[in-house]
Amino acid sequence: MTQKNLIFFNCGILLIMLISLPKAKLAPPPKRLNCTINGLTHNYLEITDPVYDEDPETTIPYTYNLHTENVSGITSPLNLPVSIDPQENLFITIKQLDEKTTLTQKSGYHFNIALRLQCIDGAVVEMNTVIPFIDSNNHEPFFSKPTYVYDLISTLESDFKRLLDLNSIVATDYDITNRELLFSVQENEYFDVVYGGIVPGTLNKQHLAQLVPKFPGKIISSKIEVALTVTDTGNPPRSNTAKLVINPPSPPKPVFTKPFYVGHLYKNNTFVMSENLHLQEGASYYETKFSIQDSYDDGCSRFFAHLVEEEIMVAFTFYGNAFPHFYERNYIVCPVEATYTDRVTNLVSSGTTILLVEYHHDL
Ligand SMILES: *[C@@H]1O[C@H](CO)[C@@H](O)[C@H](O)[C@H]1NC(C)=O
Ligand SMILES: *[C@@H]1O[C@H](CO)[C@@H](O)[C@H](O)[C@H]1NC(C)=O
Ligand SMILES: *[C@@H]1O[C@H](CO)[C@@H](O)[C@H](O)[C@H]1NC(C)=O
Repeated sequence: MTQKNLIFFNCGILLIMLISLPKAKLAPPPKRLNCTINGLTHNYLEITDPVYDEDPETTIPYTYNLHTENVSGITSPLNLPVSIDPQENLFITIKQLDEKTTLTQKSGYHFNIALRLQCIDGAVVEMNTVIPFIDSNNHEPFFSKPTYVYDLISTLESDFKRLLDLNSIVATDYDITNRELLFSVQENEYFDVVYGGIVPGTLNKQHLAQLVPKFPGKIISSKIEVALTVTDTGNPPRSNTAKLVINPPSPPKPVFTKPFYVGHLYKNNTFVMSENLHLQEGASYYETKFSIQDSYDDGCSRFFAHLVEEEIMVAFTFYGNAFPHFYERNYIVCPVEATYTDRVTNLVSSGTTILLVEYHHDL
């Protein structure tokens, strides 16, 4: 482009500006408000003095004056006490915010208030007012329970997830600008903890902690008891703790097929069972043991039970002498206990049935 052309080009821009300028001037001037505050010609009033969270009541502004012009009265849909003094200065009094019932926001909280100005000429002017709010971290986060206990029913991760869903780890923080919480767990070999998000419908006050296995699929074979900590994002931060207890899975209870079984003892010291004892499910996975307990009748210790394949045989020990009180009793009642022991966790569970031994005096 030559020098001359450049000048023409620049003039062209100037010309376009000159043509477009009158257009802008033709735009209607801002509508005059029938009455206003501080001479404002728009409906937006910004107050720079903040309201502090911990003050029970704040009257603002406190560092400058708001003058009303041609205003005969002011109301607020929030029913704030809004007053004008005889010198036509406006004061707004705001009561302490209830943080427990106000939605928590991530960025700073502001009061957005529509002040309704009654003008002396009868007109009504809505003045949108924004007032900054300064939140202090005056609430400490707290867990929903002092202790979270999970009794694992299996070492399957899905089962543990289900238990966590049923009994979630939740912490609450009421401060309206703390929209997230930080969770941590005491050093352990099984779990980390991460932030799990906001609990819906809690005004952003309640937050989930999520346990994440360090090594997915790792079997929990011993009891875990660690401290959980929740810390808020306020300044200075506040925190609280709870206990996390995870009990490794116990074996299921052994269940006998019948509430009682009958055996017969003859006077020639022969013992015959009508039917062998059975457990409802196979006993091969766990280490299975039986004992006949002496708690009801002292003759019971003469009997013992042992596993043969899937059947529990009851036998009796003959000491050579006569059975105690044989002719005084018609029968004795002996509890039989079965125990399952988990070979990995060493946890034990037990179930019982009754062995009824009939004494036959005549045969
Ligand atoms: C207030 O009313 C007077 C009389 O009608 C008027 O002259 C004046 O401009 C008004 N002031 C404002 C800010 O509207
Ligand atoms: C508000 O002021 C305008 C002119 O500025 C006037 O035409 C209108 O009548 C006023 N409204 C009332 C309710 O007096
Ligand atoms: C003992 O008595 C019972 C009942 O009379 C009989 O069935 C059984 O064969 C006898 N046992 C012995 C070893 O004699």
